[in-house]
This record gives sequence, C-alpha cells and structure tokens, in this order.
Amino acid sequence: MKVNKHYAELEESYLFSTIAHKVADYQAAHPDKDIIRLGIGDVTLPLAKSVVKALHEASEEQGHKETFHGYIPSEQGYPFLREAIQKYYAGRGVELDTAEIFISDGAKSDLGNLLDLFDVDNTVLVPDPVYPVYVDDNVMAGRRIAYMPANADNGFLPMPNDSLKGDIVYLCSPNNPTGATYTVDQLKVWVDWAKAHKAVILFDAAYECFVSEPGLARSIFEVEGAKECAIEVCSFSKIAGFTGTRCGYTVVPQALEREGMSLNKMWLRRQTTKFNGVAYIVQRAAAAVFTEEGMKEIQENLDYYRRNAAVIGAALDKAGVWYCGGKNSPYIWLKCPGNMGSWQFFDWLLETAGVVGTPGEGFGACGEGYFRLTAFGDADRTKEAADRILAAIKTLPSGC
Ligand code: MLT
Repeated sequence: MKVNKHYAELEESYLFSTIAHKVADYQAAHPDKDIIRLGIGDVTLPLAKSVVKALHEASEEQGHKETFHGYIPSEQGYPFLREAIQKYYAGRGVELDTAEIFISDGAKSDLGNLLDLFDVDNTVLVPDPVYPVYVDDNVMAGRRIAYMPANADNGFLPMPNDSLKGDIVYLCSPNNPTGATYTVDQLKVWVDWAKAHKAVILFDAAYECFVSEPGLARSIFEVEGAKECAIEVCSFSKIAGFTGTRCGYTVVPQALEREGMSLNKMWLRRQTTKFNGVAYIVQRAAAAVFTEEGMKEIQENLDYYRRNAAVIGAALDKAGVWYCGGKNSPYIWLKCPGNMGSWQFFDWLLETAGVVGTPGEGFGACGEGYFRLTAFGDADRTKEAADRILAAIKTLPSGC
C-alpha cells in the first residue's frame, strides 16, 4: 500500500483551521478577553425569510408520499433551480443553456472536483496571494504550480503576456483575499490568451454579488469567446448566507472542448458517477433567492455587509493605513502598519485590540506584510472592532 505522498507537501493544516486553533488557544489562556472575529469570511446574518419559507415548504413536501423526492431527476440539479440561475445570468445579458449549469454543494468542493477533468501533467497558474484551496487541491494531486504575483503595482490583478505558460488558470474576481476586481476588458485579455494557448480558466465568481461599479465583470461569460475557454464556479454562501446550508453551481459551457473532448460531457459523466446531487430542500431554498422577494431581502443583507466594509475602511482611513477592497468585495486588504509582518500583525492585533483577521502570508508569499479583514461580521461588533483597530494603531510609535 502506498499513500499519496503529496499530502506531505502541504502546510500542516488548512489556513482557517490554523487560525481557529490559534485563536482558541489564545482565548483559553485569556478567558476574559472579548475577541472579535473578522477572520474567516463566514456570514453572520440568518437566511432570508423567503429562503426559510422555501426550506419549510420543501421539508413538508418530503414528508408526504405524493410530493416526496428521492434521487430523481438528476445529479445535475433540479430544472427549477437551473432555470432560475439561467434567468439570473440572462438579466446580465449572458445566455446559458440549462445543460451547462450544474448544482453543487458549494464552490469550494467543485474547485477541487473539477481537477478530475484534467491530466496531472498540466501546469496550473495561480495568482499569489490567492484563496488557499486552489493551491492545496493541486498540491494534493501533484500538479506543477506556477505563481503569478499580484501586488500593488498590478492592482492585485495579474494579467497574461505572450511568455506566460500554463494549462489551467485560476482567476477569482472579486478577489479573495484582495477584493481587486477585473473589468470586462481585462478579462477579455485573459480569454484571448487562454484561447491562443489552449488553456482553461477556472473562474471563481463566489463574490460576484458584491460588484457594484460599472465596467467590472460579474461573470467571465460577459466576455465574448469565454465559453470556449472558461468554467465558472459560483456559490450561494456569500450572496445568500448558505455557508452552513451548502449550495453552489458550476457553469461548464458546451462549447468548451479540449483534445476533441467536451468538458461539459466529461463533467456530467463525473458528477453522475461521483455525486448524488444537493438535497431537494436546499435546492428549493436556493431557488427562493432568485424570486423578487428573495432578491430584495438578499440585497438588504448585502447592503448591511457593505456598510460594515465602509466602517472598517473609514477607521483605516483615519489611521492612515493603506488598503484596497471593500467596495466591490466583502474583504478589506490592508498594509500592515509599523512595517509588521502579517503573522506578527495578527498576534499584535489579537493582543492589543482583541481582533482576529487573516494574515496575508496565509494566502501566499506575496501576501506577506498584508492583512485581510472581513465585512461579514455583526454590525455592532464590526464598529467596535474598527474603533479598537484605530485606537491600537494610534499607539504605534511611528503611527503607520
Ligand atoms: C474565506 O474566508 O476566505 C472564505 O470564507 C473561505 C471559504 O469561502 O471557503
């Protein structure tokens, strides 16, 4: 018996587990300390009323022989949800066939599962810093990874050039962790590059609902030609608070072919073999997100998080700390004050202000010296955290 030795190449634990353990140890040693957690991007508002109503109704259906749902109709997802997603995209001028939409239990799972479609002998391009799942999934599989630095010089949005070589490219926009967001024109450059190099883009659109400025893309399929080179992965976690309910979707276009094979057909084959679909009641809940009432309620929740981002941003402005994000994204990416390293700032902020964030270095070497705060917290606690951060930074000898 041989184990997958690539696991030995991973960090000992997943970034957010490491942070959770560190904070738990600290809290155990300081039981009276009031800690505010703005680390992992987990939502704090409950599910919208329409969503809860749909969950109740669907649960009731499952309790009656006439309305009970088992495996059928398909591992790809119920037509009512795929049609609702199709309509959501059409509202932005993107035409999808429902056969291109696959319901999943969340973006994180599919970002790893999609790798089943690709040979291990491929080079994967990932931005640095980046959502650690992209890297870890490929390390586990033993794939070559090449990093594309994302820094203040390129606005944290790496772009391709003719010398760039790679087969699979991960792009996340609005970006986790930096909040930087590609314009449709910038994504067109990526699409042209991918088509010319026969590469496939895995586009993580989990935060698309936060885009509010014109010209910024919410889907890579807003770019002409993207269906020939991209797969889009999305989630109900951030738009509708499904972090504990679990539902997402992946769009694999029918026009996407490599080496004479249809990736859409391959993905369908993979899903029908390895996946039995998402719970009926959860799919009903997800469909409620796209109703008129659901969308209204969800926009109120998104505005609540946007206000949190503005509160954090205002405190950083007052403290004279450089940051980006927070406008089209729930994440604020800041330069650690006092020239601190990102883990050093993590410890300092926890000790001085009792606030938890995510060290930039946890997202990649280029994140060193940066720090991520989430706007998904409770509003009062976020205000309290922002006040504490400002007060703490003011105690630094050189200010920032
Ligand atoms: C994050 O904090 O980066 C995200 O919440 C993690 C995730 O969505 O899996």
